[in-house]
Amino acid sequence: MNKRKILVTSALPYANGSIHLGHLVEYIQTDIWVRFQKMRGHEIYYVCADDTHGTPIMLRAEQEGITPEALIARVHDEHYGDFTGFHIHFDNYYSTHSDETRHYAEDIYQKLKAGGLITARGIEQLYDPQRNMFLPDRFVKGECPKCGAKDQYGDSCEACGAAYTPTELKNPYSAVSGATPVKKSSEHYFFSLSDERCVDFLRRWTRAGHLQPEAANKMHEWLGDAGENKMSDWDISRDAPYFGFEIPGAPGKYFYVWLDAPIGYMGSFKHLCARENIDFDAYWRKDAETELYHFIGKDILYFHALFWPAMLNYSGYRTPTQIFAHGFLTVNGEKMSKSRGTFITAHSYLKQGLNPEWLRYYYAAKLNGSMEDIDLNLDDFVARVNSDLVGKFINIASRCAGFITKRFDGRLVDGEDYRTLQQTVDERFANWRPDAIEKAFEARDFSLAVRQIMRFADEANEMIHAMAPWEIAKIPGREADLQRICSLGIQLFYLLARYLKPILPETIRQVEDFLNCSKLTWPCLAANEPVSQLLLPAGHAIHAYQHLLTRIDGKQIDALVAANKQSLSADSGTTKTGAKAATEATGGDKPKTAAPIAETITIDDFSKIDLRVAKIVNAEHVEGAEKLLKLTLDIGSEQRTVFAGIKSAYDPEQLKGRMTVMVANLAPRQMKFGLSEGMVLAAGSGGGELFILSPDTGAQPGMRVK
Ligand code: 2FM
Ligand code: ZN
Repeated sequence: MNKRKILVTSALPYANGSIHLGHLVEYIQTDIWVRFQKMRGHEIYYVCADDTHGTPIMLRAEQEGITPEALIARVHDEHYGDFTGFHIHFDNYYSTHSDETRHYAEDIYQKLKAGGLITARGIEQLYDPQRNMFLPDRFVKGECPKCGAKDQYGDSCEACGAAYTPTELKNPYSAVSGATPVKKSSEHYFFSLSDERCVDFLRRWTRAGHLQPEAANKMHEWLGDAGENKMSDWDISRDAPYFGFEIPGAPGKYFYVWLDAPIGYMGSFKHLCARENIDFDAYWRKDAETELYHFIGKDILYFHALFWPAMLNYSGYRTPTQIFAHGFLTVNGEKMSKSRGTFITAHSYLKQGLNPEWLRYYYAAKLNGSMEDIDLNLDDFVARVNSDLVGKFINIASRCAGFITKRFDGRLVDGEDYRTLQQTVDERFANWRPDAIEKAFEARDFSLAVRQIMRFADEANEMIHAMAPWEIAKIPGREADLQRICSLGIQLFYLLARYLKPILPETIRQVEDFLNCSKLTWPCLAANEPVSQLLLPAGHAIHAYQHLLTRIDGKQIDALVAANKQSLSADSGTTKTGAKAATEATGGDKPKTAAPIAETITIDDFSKIDLRVAKIVNAEHVEGAEKLLKLTLDIGSEQRTVFAGIKSAYDPEQLKGRMTVMVANLAPRQMKFGLSEGMVLAAGSGGGELFILSPDTGAQPGMRVK
């Protein structure tokens, strides 16, 4: 076999939020692929790290009254614990706040600079005069310049969906201190991506098979056609105060978090190389023959398929062999939502005692190597795991093993019976070739692999069912038949187990103990070799069967959802849902600072607002609107239509029949989707964190709220 040398990474999670089920899609996907390659005997390393730099992490540490170093050390342990809990095995899990990452960040920067690809120029940004810091877009809040909604972030409005720059906000304030920001200019460093050299290189690179076709097309939209240069230079510096690496020769200027984040892949690998004596250059030098794969979410393709290859190419390093992008996760068909309890953290899943391999299996059954979104439908999750894993796979062993242990001292058939068994397997599975499963795993089409594995399991179950060993066991004198049938069941179970090993590493480890066999590797079966070559030897002795995998009880899922609802107020998790990228131009979490109390008004001012109890008589999605639901509100004397920006937190079905409070005398507003005749009141910062108001029981539609 030609032994491949492969380096694999998953995206580096930010060090200020918890790992949730959205993140796990990628780590589970990568881990399955890496385990598969390891089973095949290839030399493969899987590295990752926490993405530790940027303003949100600096401010989070400050809020907690600790140093950023203490915060990232704590979160590192939490993340590592969560990953380990889901059997995600990294060869190294490191931090971007490391000497190695600093070394390569400086090295790459110096080389880009020497190549004439770094330029400096002044830019104007909003500045917090109280905190003496420039404010990233997400840290400026104010009124939407389009619809006037209050407390909107500096990049987009959650009420009307408008996108704008922070300087366009009306009455802006700093989400860090509440102060009114001022415009201030400072010098920034840019990576000259618009340079013809970069654009030409990227045009070729993005079409050279390194990207999935849909990703290549997307990059081409961004790059523009030949002669039409759509690339802008990339701002790679941030001013102090900033948690990151200071730029060599530029005091007070720091590398932007996204500059050193992918370099963290190199930093983590370098750390591994030192520990395990691996040749780092063989994986990173320009003419490297090794393979390099980055597993990422489609939201960060821009960084990995444009910025990163250009950075590497112009600093003398190799570029990735391929970028494997996956889609987002939805839960029950919708974005993960804290108010619905579907924003489920890895920690809570494990804490509720749910088996991590259930989720690994379900994700595998859904992932097909494309960028399509995948849905975790919680009812389907229960049904699928119970039916496939317990009902089909484990069932084969649990129906046969007891007889082998009790009646035959753990021995499978040998001699002539063994040859007959081999023949049966070869005849029945003549058309079944394991290389199809191998191809599916290689292409990350795990859903196809799972379908093939389960087809085999169906066939095995049919055979055992037809031979009904539980009946044969009751008939005196049919001992030999019983041993043959049950040996066949165990042998088929053994055949199947190895294909599930990348997905269910812990269960299959227990299977290896139970079957008393050596560690399962990927089977090599030449084209003309019969499947029976892969069976356990004649007369093999197995150990007593121990329960391998339990069924999921729907109540466990209810408890999980309830636990994630309860943790709402206490939750300090990231707002990145895997269903949408966070964008400090980015760096993670939204700031937690509450908006300052507004200017004092008189009772007369207040009485101008006519608040009414309203019954939501209908709620529906609005085609083409990302954030809005269309509500029909009954306020006693009339019905009103209101477009409310609450789609991220509410399912329309949940709202129908509910009472709430609306502003009834707000001037009607013509929106793209129709006329909005008022506004419902809701608390929270947006996204999944939105809570509409409810009056106490007894309030009737139309009653005035004073
Ligand atoms: O989007 C994110 O969560 C980033 N922390 C991913 C970084 S991946 C790599 F470039 F480091
Ligand atoms: Zn707006």
